[in-house]
Amino acid sequence: MTSDTRNATLDFDDKSLELPMRSPTLGPDVVDIQKLYAQGGIFTYDPGFTSTASCESKITYIDGNKGELLYRGYPIDQLAEKSHFLEVCYLLLYGELPNAEELNEFIPRVTRHTMLHEQMSYFFRGFRRDAHPMSIICGVQGAMSSFYHDSTDINDPWQREVASIRMIAKMPTIAAWAYKYSIGQPFVYPRNDLDYASNFLHMCFAVPAEEYVVDPIIARAMDRIFTLHADHEQNASTSTVRLAGSSGANPFACIAAGIACLWGPAHGGANEAALNMLREIGTVDRIPEYIARAKDKNDPFRLMGFGHRVYKNFDPRAKVMKESADEVLGLLGIENNPTLQVAKELERIALEDPYFVEKKLYPNVDFYSGIILDAIGFPTSMFTPIFATARTVGWIAQWKEMIADPTQKIGRPRQLYTGATYRDYVDVENR
Ligand code: SDX
Repeated sequence: MTSDTRNATLDFDDKSLELPMRSPTLGPDVVDIQKLYAQGGIFTYDPGFTSTASCESKITYIDGNKGELLYRGYPIDQLAEKSHFLEVCYLLLYGELPNAEELNEFIPRVTRHTMLHEQMSYFFRGFRRDAHPMSIICGVQGAMSSFYHDSTDINDPWQREVASIRMIAKMPTIAAWAYKYSIGQPFVYPRNDLDYASNFLHMCFAVPAEEYVVDPIIARAMDRIFTLHADHEQNASTSTVRLAGSSGANPFACIAAGIACLWGPAHGGANEAALNMLREIGTVDRIPEYIARAKDKNDPFRLMGFGHRVYKNFDPRAKVMKESADEVLGLLGIENNPTLQVAKELERIALEDPYFVEKKLYPNVDFYSGIILDAIGFPTSMFTPIFATARTVGWIAQWKEMIADPTQKIGRPRQLYTGATYRDYVDVENR
């Protein structure tokens, strides 16, 4: 808790309230309104939480104007370049970069939890073959609470730790098996001799009929995509996880709730929608038509992968992703990928267009990620499951932080009610 003695004065009707203010280590000051209703008999109104801090956190900081993203204080571009995903997981979970000994203890803990209970494989077979992989991973993640009873007691720090490691370790297996099920291929078991990203790629693309060797270039790109998606402050899915967790729900159910929220096209589903949009545009000469549609108030079409609630400058993840797309597609010899060319030209045109400039709409993390995932060989339906796999550690870090906070209580927002006032029931014959 940061010490502060300043107050904000709120004058209304015949009241004048002094509301305490608090200063963060980074970002805007806050006005603490927890006692506003008790003292003033009024609510605040902020349906999209555009001006509302829902919690205190030490995990991730975003400066939307500077286009800055810090995981525990470390900038995302440095972590993407110099770190790797499991080290970033340690940082997000425990607050500090691990030393060599800590890292060498952490990695095997995750590696040895990558297998699923064998009976869980039957859950997959209950889905239609053409089920969207997000429906499968949402269901299987929630079902984990029926298998791992020894790590569902949120009041036991050790069980919270075991559940956390299990989910970080098993999400790649669940996502990979959802993909294998959708293409009618047999499940490939995790391998403990492979790093996190290589293991995921192997489970997705290996087949029993022949050996599959993971391309280190692809593995590095995959690992970097996981790092870029690992956490992002109090976004919609993280807020969903926190709200579910505030009721005391078991961790597996909370993460399943986060997966469900992430699926939306305004959130994590945008990477799938962005690539589908780029493919629909098809060629550079059709870009103006889509720019016009995006600007047309009567057209619900939006440029998917553009805009952000917080970033009013470049999304730093999009910059790294764009560089990675150039590198990966160049190394794969497909730098002239038409979709990448359309994306770059669309970005160039949009960033010169007054509509996008005035509304401060820039490419976000989802604009380029799909191009890399497509080049690696994933169908668009796997883009959001990959986002969910990466974000699992962020959801868990935020959930653990909330559960460990002695002041936390169940989240229960109020409302601005504009419905019918009190009225008595009328029998049907009198209506
Ligand atoms: C993610 O919160 C996070 O941190 C999320 C995330 C994470 O890591 O967890 O970063 C991941 O979800 C990234 C965002 C992915 N979504 C998309 O790319 C979908 C397309 N973008 C939009 O739908 C929109 O930009 C949002 C949802 C991302 C943000 O919406 P806001 O903050 O509620 O902004 P808004 O809808 O009020 O838009 C402001 C104005 C509007 O115009 P006016 O009504 O003021 O005239 O900008 C316009 C919007 O119409 N606008 C767009 C646009 N996005 C906003 N116009 C055209 N194309 C767009 N993409």
